[in-house]
Amino acid sequence: MSGDILKIEDLKVYYPVRKGMMGKTQYVKAVDGVSLNVHKGEVLGIVGESGCGKSTLGKAVCKLIPVTDGNIVLNDMDIARMSENQLRPYRKQIQMIFQDPYASLNPRMSVHDIIAEPMEIHKMYSTKEEIDQKVTELLREVGLDDYHAQRYPHEFSGGQRQRIGIARALATEPDLIIADEPVSALDVSIQSQVLNLLSKLLKERNLTMIFIAHDLSVVEHISNRVVVMYLGNIVEEGTSQELYENPLHPYTKALLDAHPIPDPTKRKERVLLEGTIPSALNPPTGCKFHTRCKQCMEICKQKAPEKYSVNADHFVYCHLYDGMKSAE
Ligand SMILES: Nc1ncnc2c1ncn2[C@@H]1O[C@H](COP(=O)(O)OP(=O)(O)O)[C@@H](O)[C@H]1O
Ligand SMILES: [Mg+2]
Repeated sequence: MSGDILKIEDLKVYYPVRKGMMGKTQYVKAVDGVSLNVHKGEVLGIVGESGCGKSTLGKAVCKLIPVTDGNIVLNDMDIARMSENQLRPYRKQIQMIFQDPYASLNPRMSVHDIIAEPMEIHKMYSTKEEIDQKVTELLREVGLDDYHAQRYPHEFSGGQRQRIGIARALATEPDLIIADEPVSALDVSIQSQVLNLLSKLLKERNLTMIFIAHDLSVVEHISNRVVVMYLGNIVEEGTSQELYENPLHPYTKALLDAHPIPDPTKRKERVLLEGTIPSALNPPTGCKFHTRCKQCMEICKQKAPEKYSVNADHFVYCHLYDGMKSAE
């Protein structure tokens, strides 16, 4: 591992929505000032409840949706405001694996064409034979058979379709893969097979990956570091071990407590999460988590917390730690 492959700086992604015919435009602040770095060769987990902005963050980094503000620096180049033309060479470097393996594959294309398409778009090979060879190699790598190339997505199970999605993502030999809840749409019995495949590919190909999940238990094993998001912001960031052994933010604690703990003596205070995530259209003032936080103080309603540094790679955004060293 050396250096950062990706630096996200104060990224904002707002969706304009209009209430009624004459209503004025309001903004869903799906990602509302996120900064994070992804180190080369690591798996960075991003977790948080549904609606906290994980997919929006992933899609923005892949430049599939417009960025409202902030920077996305990929291999030292800011791609946040690049035109489609300028972007072309960079598109190859980031690929996304989508949550829904049913919706994300074109039903009218054969598996061969689905996997070949990104190689053709990026003019990676000069002959059809080379592309065919590469498709066969990729199919084998993800555990499918050569004859599957001529079949269509509807002929496959969910787990197999996700394997096709993974082969397509690998086709451009990307530097960074963003896997957006790649197993949450799959049967539980299939989930670990696909996770094992991803782990194998990570090792063999020395990939860098952002792994998005709403479930901390899914990212625990696959991630080196984990970022916890709440309503468009990061609330805590740390190595997987730090976050699981020493979670500091009340939201992280609540997320961890939502899952069975193998050794219940390890974590004594149980903080259960109540209520639902507030609307990103009209988020709470101050710390956005204050409306659900058991330890909410007066200042939490008024002021967004700073980023505090627990140690070199553990950060928390919470007023309970006011007085701790500010990060950056
Ligand atoms: N195209 C869209 N238009 C308007 N709002 C959207 C759109 N996509 C997502 N949102 C809203 O943005 C917020 C974040 O959504 P999303 O990024 O999908 O969260 P997650 O992946 O964490 O579930 C949610 O409030 C969601 O309703
Ligand atoms: Mg999502």
